Amino acid sequence: MTQPLPEFAAQRLKHIERANRYRVRREYAARQGMAVACDDADLTLFCSNDYLGLSDHPRLVEALSQAAERYGVGSTASQYINGHSAEIAAFERELAAFLGYPRVLLLGSGYLVNTGVIDALVGRDDVIVSDALNHASLIDGCRLSGARVERFAHADIEAADQALAACAGDGQRLLLSDAVFSMDGDIADIPALARLARQRSAWLMLDDAHGVGVLGPQGRGAVALHQCGVSEVPVLTGTLGKAFGVYGAFVAASSEVIDYLTQVTRTGIFATALPPPLVASLRAALELVAYADQRRAHLNGLIEQFRAGLVRLGLPDTASSTPIQPLIVGPEDRTLALSEALRARGLWVTAIRPPTVPAGTCRLRITLSAAHSEADVQRLLAALDEIMPRD
Ligand SMILES: Cc1ncc(COP(=O)(O)O)c(C=O)c1O
Repeated sequence: MTQPLPEFAAQRLKHIERANRYRVRREYAARQGMAVACDDADLTLFCSNDYLGLSDHPRLVEALSQAAERYGVGSTASQYINGHSAEIAAFERELAAFLGYPRVLLLGSGYLVNTGVIDALVGRDDVIVSDALNHASLIDGCRLSGARVERFAHADIEAADQALAACAGDGQRLLLSDAVFSMDGDIADIPALARLARQRSAWLMLDDAHGVGVLGPQGRGAVALHQCGVSEVPVLTGTLGKAFGVYGAFVAASSEVIDYLTQVTRTGIFATALPPPLVASLRAALELVAYADQRRAHLNGLIEQFRAGLVRLGLPDTASSTPIQPLIVGPEDRTLALSEALRARGLWVTAIRPPTVPAGTCRLRITLSAAHSEADVQRLLAALDEIMPRD
């Protein structure tokens, strides 16, 4: 006989169901580019983070399979035991050079990097000043560290300044922000955050999960877009599961900081290293990302096409210049219904609900990719024209 759920868990589950926040993992059987076979339907994906359309690129697939022949599949241990493959060592050097940072440490995922790095940088006597819309992995890193957390209103530099000023003398201070906000697509004012951190003698850590590969010269990310580097943003993190099309994540910093993080980041020390074939495909992805200006230009064209289309249809502009194009709907039930209506028209856009976004701001988080065509975007706009309510 199986044990029943503890009362608190059963209640929590009921609440999730009643609030229309029950999450369903839709199973797909095959995918090629943005075309997915799911539940006997052929759908076009408009909610993946494969911004450059590299996840099924033949060079990545080939690099992965060749490395599997050479190394096998699994890394078999933590990097500190026997999991530090030559692929990881080479990729860390190559990625650091690409980002223009002295050194990089590669870990399992953005969630592991953000939680582990924040926990390593600050402790109970310290204060974190954190943007209210930061990603859950940053929030969980704050919790794990035990530091006091002061949240400032989203993108409000003045409020961040006040929060930093108010905790002067309270140990180490860490200013923390997404570089591109994952659910809204807006880009943080990186030069202003850097100035603030310098003036208030705080660390600045940015998570550029959605900017690396997409923004800046050669896709070097939001920090490079603003002509900043390690002097302005001493700790930069990012995932390789989005524009790079693979999996894994990095923290980039000075040699001294990486040396320290290598010694103390628990999510790296007590976790199995990335499989060598995956890292081999990341190396192939990096070569493509650095020379993907055509893909980025095509993607930017699609973003313009989509936003201009929204205006033409009398729908609110998303105010986002990145591939993340959110249509804020509000309540859970309406957002779910719109997502279903798109699905019925062959378009896959998952409804985003709390706790991923604040209550009352459920949305269709549309993401564009270089793997989309203008005709795909046109089809999406035509469907939105049919289903979206107007004020
Ligand atoms: C801003 C941001 N940071 C970190 C992550 C986590 O990265 P990963 O999926 O590699 O764990 C995500 C999304 O997944 C994200 O949107």
